[in-house]
Amino acid sequence: MQLREFKLERFFAAHEFSARYLLSASDCEALTLAELLALADDESLALWRDLKLGYTESAGHPLLRSAAAALYEGIAADEVLIAAPEELIFIAMNVLVAPGDGVIVTFPGYQSLYEVASALGARTTRWTLQPDASGWRLDLAALEQHITPATRLLVINFPHNPTGYLPGRDELNTILDLARQHNLVVFADEMYRLLEYDPGRRLPSVADVYERGIALGGLSKAFGLPGLRIGWLATHDRSFLARAQAFRDYTTICNSAPAEILGLMALRRAEQITARNLAIIRANLTLAEQFFAGHPDRFRWLPPQAGPVAFPQFIAGSPVAEFCRRALEQYDTMILPGDVFEVAGDHFRLGLGRRDFRAAMAALAA
Ligand SMILES: Cc1ncc(COP(=O)(O)O)c(C=O)c1O
Repeated sequence: MQLREFKLERFFAAHEFSARYLLSASDCEALTLAELLALADDESLALWRDLKLGYTESAGHPLLRSAAAALYEGIAADEVLIAAPEELIFIAMNVLVAPGDGVIVTFPGYQSLYEVASALGARTTRWTLQPDASGWRLDLAALEQHITPATRLLVINFPHNPTGYLPGRDELNTILDLARQHNLVVFADEMYRLLEYDPGRRLPSVADVYERGIALGGLSKAFGLPGLRIGWLATHDRSFLARAQAFRDYTTICNSAPAEILGLMALRRAEQITARNLAIIRANLTLAEQFFAGHPDRFRWLPPQAGPVAFPQFIAGSPVAEFCRRALEQYDTMILPGDVFEVAGDHFRLGLGRRDFRAAMAALAA
């Protein structure tokens, strides 16, 4: 299997820990260990104190599986597999995709969502989001045109990275109706779920409303805990889960024991932690809107609807990659150019989840 370089991850590897400000992070401000322990309930604190650092159950700690399942309407604890989010994408694609399969993927997007399928010999088709006067849009008619007799899998990511796009409930229904008509498996990357600016617009998980749906969730983004490396797949498709678990014997076998208990603490305080993160995003969104309203000649603001990222456009005349290079060299600020998402149009990703957003925006202003 030949995987192309993961452009975004290589860019982060080069700059994430050396730049002073990160203006393009997709996670929310990380909690400290002390903050998380202070939130924990008595049972998880006792598990933490008495924790033995042995191997763990390969599907995940039963209490953690049940805490993840509680985020869904009708998912049982044994319909959940816990592993690192990126690992779960790799596992799911390996289990779901065979050479020659047609796979349709929302685009631009997190590269592994299409790269792994391509490397496995699938024919991937990019279902492309387009900017319009009010933000980013997906053309549902285009999805229908992309479906061929070879199509097996539809990969979607809502709320969407990097645009912050969130379809309406009707649009999701139309997507799932099409998938149903063509008997497609739907892999729904829901890593940014629970961060909807208007809670009334939160979509049901695809795992709850589509019989062949597989949802990816995790603690890295909405919970501000990427260092735990805890995510999960939720699905009613138990035969898929069994195959995914068996594949996992060749990746990490099981989770880190401390991460599982810390993850349990976080999931049991889901409302509190996601409310904290949403408050940070909302405050930063206001700053961003003010900033872009003041610079219509240089930037085209394309408002996100959910999540900690937006994908505005740089329209000042020079290539966005050059602009990002200067921000790094002169202002020690990392801004991710749209090139790493393989899209033209001089977009860049703005990360709204960090507490130092105001200071980081100073580089953009300068
Ligand atoms: C849409 C999406 N899915 C999955 C992941 C992977 O999450 P993790 O880095 O926690 O493995 C990311 C990370 O940026 C992402 O943006």
